[in-house]
Amino acid sequence: MFATIAGRYDFLNHVLSGNVDKRWRKIVASRLTEKLPTARPVILDVACGTGDLSVTLFESMRARVVGTDFCRPMLSIAAGKVSSEVELLESDALRLPFVTGAFDAVTIAFGLRNLASVEGGLSELCRVLKPNGWVAVLEFSRPSNAVLRTMFGLYFRKILPLLGGLVSGSLSAYTYLPASVSRFPDQDQLALLMTQAGFDQVSYQNLTGGIAALHIGRKP
Ligand SMILES: C[S@@+](CC[C@H](N)C(=O)[O-])C[C@H]1O[C@@H](n2cnc3c(N)ncnc32)[C@H](O)[C@@H]1O
Repeated sequence: MFATIAGRYDFLNHVLSGNVDKRWRKIVASRLTEKLPTARPVILDVACGTGDLSVTLFESMRARVVGTDFCRPMLSIAAGKVSSEVELLESDALRLPFVTGAFDAVTIAFGLRNLASVEGGLSELCRVLKPNGWVAVLEFSRPSNAVLRTMFGLYFRKILPLLGGLVSGSLSAYTYLPASVSRFPDQDQLALLMTQAGFDQVSYQNLTGGIAALHIGRKP
């Protein structure tokens, strides 16, 4: 699915979100900056897709970044955008090719929802973190306000699939998006899954009224 839409993915992300997605990614970088004591942390960006978060982490944190994804067309677009210092690697998020305890931080943006197992993904993210390392999960979530939830639901389920389908040529990818979000755990459920996967100090902040949420957690 992502191979089909790779060429239009960035354009649609920015247009359909009114560029808010860029702000959300910057918030990931600033939360990790607060949490990480290391001057030049080593960060793994899982399901990096076309690399927008990898670029943000590299530019705002001066981090050493490794981006991984299992979709080569998405990675090819990323390769045209990231600095040569950012490494890109084709790999499955559920079987990461890294030793245990390799990274200061691990991020996953709009990727966890797409994994065959959310629990399996979280425990793999935890495995590759160093003790005291931090995970950041950026994902669509549930707006807390009923009016916003209704209005956003209308946009997300009715308008976005039409626009996304027209521009990308893949209606199924943009009907999959709201369907996968509605199946995904809400803010509190995801926090619980993260704790069960082995993270402590799990917390989240709603972004744009809960349209998205940023969860962070520490590996003890
Ligand atoms: C919605 S995109 C998000 C891309 C990027 N992180 C962003 O913020 O724009 C989801 C990405 O997850 C990747 N993905 C889904 N399942 C995966 C898996 N099991 N292993 C690696 N990547 C996966 C897809 O290939 C796709 O690039």
